[in-house]
Amino acid sequence: MTQADSRVAHLPTTSYYCPSGKYDELWRRADEDPEGFWAEQALELDWFKRWDKVLDWKAPYARWFVGGKLNLSVQCLDRHMKTDVRNKVAFYWEGELGDSQVLTYGEMYRQVNNTAGALKRLGVKRGDRVAIYLPMIPALPVVMLACARIGAPFTVVFSAFSGQALADRVEDTGAKVIVTASGMHRRGKILPLKENAVEAAARCACVEKIVVVKHTHHQVEMDPNRDVWLSDILSGCDEYVAPEDMDSNDPLFILYTSGSTGKPKGILHGTGGYSLWIAKTMQWAFDTDAQTVWWCTADVGWITGHSYVVFAPMILGLTSVMYEGAPDYPALDRWWAIIAKYGVTAFYTSPTAIRMFMRHGEEWLSRHDLSCLKILGSVGEPINPEAWLWYYRNVGKERIGISDTWWQTETGGFMISPTPGIQMHALKPGSATKPMPGVVPAVVDADGKELPNGETGFIVIKKPWPGMLLDIYRNPDLYHKTYWSRFPGYYLPGDYCMKDQDNFLWLLGRADEVIKVAGHRISTAELESAIVGHSAVAEAAATSRPDEIKGEAIILFVTLRKGTPPSVEIKNELTRHLRATIGTLATPEEIFFVNLLPKTRSGKIMRRLLKAVATGAAVGDTTTLDDGASVDEAKAAFAELT
Ligand code: WT7
Repeated sequence: MTQADSRVAHLPTTSYYCPSGKYDELWRRADEDPEGFWAEQALELDWFKRWDKVLDWKAPYARWFVGGKLNLSVQCLDRHMKTDVRNKVAFYWEGELGDSQVLTYGEMYRQVNNTAGALKRLGVKRGDRVAIYLPMIPALPVVMLACARIGAPFTVVFSAFSGQALADRVEDTGAKVIVTASGMHRRGKILPLKENAVEAAARCACVEKIVVVKHTHHQVEMDPNRDVWLSDILSGCDEYVAPEDMDSNDPLFILYTSGSTGKPKGILHGTGGYSLWIAKTMQWAFDTDAQTVWWCTADVGWITGHSYVVFAPMILGLTSVMYEGAPDYPALDRWWAIIAKYGVTAFYTSPTAIRMFMRHGEEWLSRHDLSCLKILGSVGEPINPEAWLWYYRNVGKERIGISDTWWQTETGGFMISPTPGIQMHALKPGSATKPMPGVVPAVVDADGKELPNGETGFIVIKKPWPGMLLDIYRNPDLYHKTYWSRFPGYYLPGDYCMKDQDNFLWLLGRADEVIKVAGHRISTAELESAIVGHSAVAEAAATSRPDEIKGEAIILFVTLRKGTPPSVEIKNELTRHLRATIGTLATPEEIFFVNLLPKTRSGKIMRRLLKAVATGAAVGDTTTLDDGASVDEAKAAFAELT
């Protein structure tokens, strides 16, 4: 029994264990006859033209529903116009300032058509890329669906990314248009999004227009040749824009995420397989029905928001909550107040948020009636059993289950999660439990050999699934190298995993140079390349240490150029530089100044050592080190500050 296993003995799991369910049967059917299984599921979508072939698998490329034609905006909108869903609420939107909007499916349909028309009039054609840099306001799903409708692949850039990070993404996609807002509200402040968009446009020759959504009411400078207000280019009257007949494997969106390289990579998703995957996995993991009131707290700038704030709930015709602001603004009960106000039945958030609330105590929860909740969810990073149990006891009142969903930007939708929509497994706090039907995982050692239960290794996925990424945008070599080269034929997610004696899967964190700060993905290479861009920095190495709330915190070791002595000022300056280059999520917890970085004789930074120093662990073998003094130095620098 592992340590995590032993805690489970005290958990009353039996109350929601349903042995008569269909999980085993569905998983087996999807494994034995994937084409038959997925063809049957795909009938739940509206196709302009049926596919010729369900799956074309030429590793490492899987193409689902080859020859099939459809449009995602039709799945989310048009088909609901023929049913009662037309007048159902799609989004209860709540602003940070306490303002609110109620948008029905009919209203979303009208706005998406108008916006699609406006984008077309601006010159956006099928295949043109659009960058979307918007806060959590209704215009965000509207613009995404408008792009999908006219066949323009979009890239959503998280609003906390800097102008420079936006520019990198705009440039890589070659976007013609950036859609942004005047600004956004965050903890009572106004953040100037439009200014960042202007900075990005100035760097990227591809950008022809900036479309601005009026949201904050501060003065915004508009360049008459380049900038337009969205409200000015909407036709004003009802308008219908025919949806493009997209091929099932045409690109739908590009979403940038961090890997082992200094630059984020553009994960490319398609339409047919992706739409089906997110809709089915949502039903399975959250047992949704017509009465569900769904709230996923993720920002739409991440894959969680794409798949489970916007698209899957809309494909399923669910009512959702969308909230603009911070969880603790104006007070720590804001989220609980929202749950009670809208009668949220399914609530999906991150371990970081749970740990933050845990620290502040239960009294904030007890002010609100949370009896509307029927299911909880967790995503983004491993959830420690303490946080799981706190969530289970205090938010769920020990009466409802938690779907801990393990997945990635690349996977499109949930991969490993409890599936109460099919059958509720017993739950174990900290385990994402079992693979979804269609997901065939294995735990392997460094040579690709399958490990016995109880041993920790790398998780791999042995077969393609419908939500699998199409490619890395404009970089197929990196696609091969990152996911398919280490264990040929298997998809490599990059996480450690252990399968226990009951075949439950425990996802144990990243096995590569990716850091998860509050569930957000950032790589050591990206941090290093950003910080050496500062003129005072000679060399830098990034690592992380465990953080009680955020999961991991960024630690940097920096050697300064001659002439710049270490100081608090330069430390602050470097922090500012990182925030300006990447965004607020790159804020380091600590920067240590050293004279040398520990390197091997071949010149590679010994990250293992820096991590050990940063976490206060034993340093271990240093025989291949070039200069043992640098470890001692890093240790001394660390000791001084802790
Ligand atoms: C990485 C993917 C999944 C959407 C949000 C993040 C970690 C995610 C879990 C979980 C343990 C998890 C993994 C994964 N992760 N969910 N439930 N348990 N780890 O997407 O930014 O692409 O990050 O997040 O390390 O590889 P992402």
